[in-house]
Amino acid sequence: MNERTFRAENAQVLEDPERLVWLPPDEVITALALRTGMNVVDVGAGTGYFSIPIADAVGAGGRVTAVDMQREMLDLLAGKIKKRGGPGNIGLVQGEATATGVSAGAADIVLMANVWHELDDYPAVLAEMNRVLVPEGVLAVLDWRTDQEPPPGPPSGHRVSARAVGRDLSDNGWSVSDTRDIGRYSYLVIAGIPQ
Ligand SMILES: C[S@@+](CC[C@H](N)C(=O)[O-])C[C@H]1O[C@@H](n2cnc3c(N)ncnc32)[C@H](O)[C@@H]1O
Repeated sequence: MNERTFRAENAQVLEDPERLVWLPPDEVITALALRTGMNVVDVGAGTGYFSIPIADAVGAGGRVTAVDMQREMLDLLAGKIKKRGGPGNIGLVQGEATATGVSAGAADIVLMANVWHELDDYPAVLAEMNRVLVPEGVLAVLDWRTDQEPPPGPPSGHRVSARAVGRDLSDNGWSVSDTRDIGRYSYLVIAGIPQ
């Protein structure tokens, strides 16, 4: 935890129905070209804003592993999953972005949504994502644009630009394949693992 970590007591912000208007999960699902049968790891999953629609997109033959370091967030997600009728194809793991506890080569895609700006050690996080992904896997970093002022979102001083994310990825050997705006306030950077 650091001063930028999203606090579990504010979790209702992540459940605001307006969020579906300005950050539509479908836009991310399309950008990631998600297909049935894929395995996705959602790091910093929070209350599962993306985990649940992604689980629907990958279907029963696919799987979503939702990783978060805060037990309270995973408990809220567990409650939502229970309301849907059971675990289905979503697994929950309490873990750190630098040590997720997910098996090596388990993911076709790792999504890190609204968490990059909360991290401290990008090389260690990227080494862990490299371990978790299959050789042709991709990492998708979604975060807040820096050319807009909050609200909504974290303070301007906490934000990291898409350009800086791309640089962090490239500096660590990742191949950035796409950078685009998502919804009203966010960007998405997609990169392939170091070869
Ligand atoms: C702002 S919330 C975003 C949740 C979700 N991805 C979304 O967009 O609705 C950030 C989440 O990342 C988690 N988080 C922050 N730093 C983390 C780290 N180093 N390892 C694992 N989870 C982390 C926090 O606990 C929090 O649940």
